[in-house]
Amino acid sequence: MITLTDYGAHSDSLRRGSGRESGQAMDERTLRARMEPELPPGLTAHIDRVVVLAGTFARRHDLALASVQLAARGHDLLRAVPPSELLTRARAHGLEIDPVELREPVLLHGPLAAIDLADRFAVRDADVLHAIRWHTTGHPDYSAEAWAMFVADKVEPEKVQRRPALARVRALADHDLETAALAYLDLTLIAAVEEGWQLHPMANAARNALMARGVRDDA
Ligand SMILES: [Fe+2]
Ligand SMILES: [Fe+2]
Repeated sequence: MITLTDYGAHSDSLRRGSGRESGQAMDERTLRARMEPELPPGLTAHIDRVVVLAGTFARRHDLALASVQLAARGHDLLRAVPPSELLTRARAHGLEIDPVELREPVLLHGPLAAIDLADRFAVRDADVLHAIRWHTTGHPDYSAEAWAMFVADKVEPEKVQRRPALARVRALADHDLETAALAYLDLTLIAAVEEGWQLHPMANAARNALMARGVRDDA
């Protein structure tokens, strides 16, 4: 069970509805307008592509469109923040920092975005915040909506163009999002071995959970 208390020191005040925008759920278009001044244009363009593709997946697989698109809009709020600053902020929030995150602080941009979106942008949907928190690695408890956002982030058109192996993941996503997610996590595992970098433990946990549920990538 995911609750708002997982996100940020001010989540209690948000839950009580004492925030500036009390009573109004944040929507994707409003969040876009509020995030845009804070982001480099290239990052907003990436996020725009993810929102479009996540919407395509949500419609195709009959998922909750507004939740999928809100998670897609918020996922990279802090992607342009320098690694040292991410580390400082993670420590300030008392986040438990995995040794892999210590080596690669960019991995903290998801967990910190979830906190920021709850604190500063009035995103109150705990499932949306959970999807955003783990969008780099996936998570064993991910919903279909969270996987739609996750896969869209990994296979938006420009990423497929840069890395043609992702075309297969994109094609699988038309049929089954969890199979696509497993195929992506398999590619990540292979790259980690070949290129000699550490895999985040949550990526491994997410991959194991998909396989334990019978998801197979043997097409
Ligand atoms: Fe990201
Ligand atoms: Fe992204």
